[in-house]
Amino acid sequence: MEKSPMTDKFDITLNGIRLQCESGETILDVAKRDGTYIPTLCHDPRLDPAGACRSCLVEIDGQRRLQPACAFKVTPDLNIHSESARVRKHRKILMSLYMADHGAPLETEHNGDQLTRMARDCGPLLALNPVEAPRAARPAEDNPYFTFDPSLCILCARCTRYCDEVEAVNAITLSERGASTTIATAGQRTLMDTSCELCGGCVDTCPTGALMEKKPAKLNQVNPRKVRTTCNYCGVGCQMDLNVVDDKVIKVSSPEPGTTLNDGNLCVKGRFAYDFIHHQDRLTSPMIRGTDGQLHEATWAEAIETAARGLLDVKERHGADSLGFISSSRCTGEENYMMQKLARAAFGTNNCHQCAAT
Ligand code: SF4
Ligand code: SF4
Ligand code: FES
Repeated sequence: MEKSPMTDKFDITLNGIRLQCESGETILDVAKRDGTYIPTLCHDPRLDPAGACRSCLVEIDGQRRLQPACAFKVTPDLNIHSESARVRKHRKILMSLYMADHGAPLETEHNGDQLTRMARDCGPLLALNPVEAPRAARPAEDNPYFTFDPSLCILCARCTRYCDEVEAVNAITLSERGASTTIATAGQRTLMDTSCELCGGCVDTCPTGALMEKKPAKLNQVNPRKVRTTCNYCGVGCQMDLNVVDDKVIKVSSPEPGTTLNDGNLCVKGRFAYDFIHHQDRLTSPMIRGTDGQLHEATWAEAIETAARGLLDVKERHGADSLGFISSSRCTGEENYMMQKLARAAFGTNNCHQCAAT
């Protein structure tokens, strides 16, 4: 054992390779750092480990049972096997059980459906009979953004744990017992009738497609081009990926947890309010109201000159303090700085304000 008393670092062996780790880490943490793939379903790095789905089980010398890599904490000198014959056999049986109940055939991969991809990796599955106790569905879900199909749910509880541990909303929960267990709201109300904030984080973390964004025809586009951008609905600066097909934004997704400041999370506006981008009523060029009282398209140079002329005219007639400049928290810090500079240095007034200051 190579152990440092100061840092509490020690070695373990994973698939015959000696790896250094720290106390408190799980086997999955160490494997990920090493680039070793261990399949997971109920794991989400933002959530406490649940050990619910059993897809990450590994073999550890001296342990009678296979252990969940997502929840098992490393200790010095563990000898772990993530691809042994016993582990592979377990995965095949587990995936066969899941897919026997899963409503979608293996051939039709849902967009981002982790379970179906994982089942495919196991090769031909065993032909098992489904459990004849379908989970209860909520009455028609009338929220505008996503659906819930209980027949696709594997009860990994990522959605309920996300809603509790990240959003602190608790709009959904596991209810009933045994084969009747399902994801429910209080009194099986539609989400619109609960404390749900429609953040969509539960949909994003769901590994099976049981929680699914509406507009399925668009979402079945398998490989949209992803364009990273900064959300401009508020000043936090969340990063988002615009999913683009044929120059059209068909979906907004959050970057992987742990990679950007919003840690894979978005609010309802950031995730779902993107229809305006291609809306027919959207202004795509500056407009100037003419002497006929109607708005007419103009170039940016014409628009800026017209605005400057109007502001200077007011200043000349009524003084600089008759002008006021209002900026927005949807602008960047640099843009807000420029706005107050424009007010103070160009027009000579301190009348400038920004909505985040109220
Ligand atoms: S949308 Fe957000 S608030 Fe609503 S149930 Fe899902 S995680 Fe909870
Ligand atoms: S709805 Fe999805 S995330 Fe929630 S328990 Fe079912 S499979 Fe897991
Ligand atoms: S990912 Fe480890 S038990 Fe589900």
